This record gives sequence, C-alpha cells and structure tokens, in this order.
Amino acid sequence: MSASAAGAPGTDLRALVERARSASADAATVESLRQLESELLGKQGELARAQRSLGALAPDERRAAGLEIQEARRAVEALVAGRRAVLADAERAVRVESERLDLTEVLDAPTRGHVHIVQRTRDQLEDVFVGMGFAVAEGPEVETDWYNFEALNMPIAHPARGMWDTFYLELGDPETVVLRTHTSPVQIRLMQQQPPPVYAVMPGRCYRRDTPDARHIPIFHQIEGLVVDRGISFADLAGTIETFTTAYFGPDIHARLRPAYFPFTEPSAEYEITCTICKGAGCRTCSQTGWVELGGAGMVDPAVFAAVGLDPEEWTGFAFGFGIDRCAQMRHEIPDMRVLLENDVRVLRQL
Ligand code: FA5
Repeated sequence: MSASAAGAPGTDLRALVERARSASADAATVESLRQLESELLGKQGELARAQRSLGALAPDERRAAGLEIQEARRAVEALVAGRRAVLADAERAVRVESERLDLTEVLDAPTRGHVHIVQRTRDQLEDVFVGMGFAVAEGPEVETDWYNFEALNMPIAHPARGMWDTFYLELGDPETVVLRTHTSPVQIRLMQQQPPPVYAVMPGRCYRRDTPDARHIPIFHQIEGLVVDRGISFADLAGTIETFTTAYFGPDIHARLRPAYFPFTEPSAEYEITCTICKGAGCRTCSQTGWVELGGAGMVDPAVFAAVGLDPEEWTGFAFGFGIDRCAQMRHEIPDMRVLLENDVRVLRQL
C-alpha cells in the first residue's frame, strides 16, 4: 500500500491488512472466516469505522484517505475470498467422501451364486452333442397345433395327443396355439429350414399339465435330437445314445432301450438308466422300478418326412428327446425334482 497508514484517522490500514492476511490463513472453517469478514468488512467493522472517520478530515486529505481505505478493503476482500475458496473445496471434499456410496458388494464365495443346475446341464448336454458333430438349434416355446401335433403325425382328435396334456393360449382360432409340450416341433421347423443332411440337437423349455412329483414338474426342459441322412439305421440311433450315455454319465452307468410308442417315430423306444438314487434297488424316485426314463427315441416316421415334403424313400433318420431336468436329477442324485423349481438357496448351493 503506497499511502501512509495514518491516512485514515485512528486506523492503521497496513496493520489491518496484515492481520487479515494471517487471520484468514488461520481460519479453519468457512464460519470462522465469515466472522473475520464481518469484523473487518461489515457495516460495524473496522473499515466501515475508518470510512466514517473520514468526515473529520480536510477535503483533499479525505479523498486520499478514502482511496487508501478502498484499497485496503479490496485487499481484505481478496484475502477472504481466496481463503473461502480453499475452505469450501476442503469442506466439499469431506462431504463428498462422507456421502460416498460404496456399491461394491463383498460376498463370500458360497453366496456369490452360480449358473442354475438346469442351465448348466443344458450346456453340458449341448457340449456332448457338439463334440459328436451335432449343430445346436432352437425353436419357439409357443407353438401352433400343427407343429406341436399335426406335423408329428397326430391329427386333430388323435388319441396320442392325450399323452401330452396341454396348455392352449387364447390366440387365433380356439385350440390352435399351445405352449409346446415337447421339443419335437423343432424337428419340423429345422427340416423346413434346411435340406438334409441334418445332424442337430434342439434344447428348450416345455410345458405340460403334469402334477408335480418326484420325477415331474409342469415346466421342464428337453433336448431334442434329429439326424436325417441317407442310409441311417436303428444301430446309428443306439450307438449315438450309448456314446452320449458314457460321455455324460460315465462308463459305469447302466442304460437300456425299451420298445415304446410315439406317433412320429417307428420303431420307437424309451431310453432308461438305472436309478442313481437307489442304484437299481427300487425307491420312491423311480417308483420302486429301479429304472428312470430319460427320454424317447426312434426312427423318423415316413409321415413326418411327408409333412415337410421329404421323400421317405430317399431319406432316413432318427430322433430323440431327453429330459434335461431328468438328466440333471439322475447325474446329481436329486431324489425329488421339485427342488429345481423351489429356489431354496440351501439346496441350490449344493448343486
Ligand atoms: C416326448 O416328449 C417325445 N417328444 C420324445 C421323443 C422325441 C420321442 C423324438 C421320439 C422321438 P416323453 O413325453 O416321454 O416324450 O418325454 C420325454 C422326456 O421328457 C421324459 O423321458 C422325461 O425325461 C422328460 N419329461 C417329460 N415330462 C416331464 C415333466 N413333467 N417333468 C420333467 N421331465 C419331463
């Protein structure tokens, strides 16, 4: 400050500015700075008092002293503003830190979760068949009556439809749209989409009005298989199923094919393995038979080839449909399949 400190009567402006400098540097909070501000710059503060004292001076002295006071005021204001910015930043940083939301959730390994056993089984089954040279395809869960039944050699009112009790949707004409009861309609879609040869598996969800019990749930999963080529025989089907069984369950499992009936295969078979719960002795899970059916299979019926416009004299094939949940149940020795739907984490953690 160039003017003398005696410019304003009774006030040492230079000392005042120095005091402001050290007091503002010492101010630890915005509040204490506000205090300082009012003491120096407020209406009742020291600079205002100095301003009021100017009236006692001669006009030319008053002007010079007034300028000095202005200069001192600006200097104090700058010091206070500088310190306020520093304090505000620091206080904001403290507030942000205290309000910070830590969104990371640290969980112990057992509660971290894993892929559901049914999905894992589906992946493993796909892997086995991909390893055997099959492609993977999918079809819709909501099907027309034609794909779910008719094209599979089950005309309207055919008694075989009773084997698959059905949920119909209120879409289109009455009883024309169903939640698919099996993955076999995907066979039809695939043969419509691509010319033979076909080597494919088709996993997916199915729906039936089945009463839940140890081996049945109303929403379950199947993996369909379809091979269409020239010169395919039942021996190819049996060999494929045997290779699958060993790959998925290991070499020690007992499996068998039993004659059965499906409208879309001829001849047809049921594929069964020794119950893994009782090792064949008979238990509640296998209804005391010692065997559990995993799926159906057979040679593609000529009527199915006809439905998709393939010449049954030229093309041959086999198909199968295994229950994915049933495979999981047997491989992991789950006595009651209903646990797969119940979502009890104590059970799911073990699977
Ligand atoms: C069929 O669904 C035929 N589409 C299988 C087939 C495909 C035969 C190709 C010939 C050629 P089935 O209704 O038996 O067949 O069911 C096959 C398998 O699905 C059963 O062995 C079982 O493993 C599984 N499955 C059927 N219903 C249920 C259910 N309610 N809960 C769990 N799994 C089921």
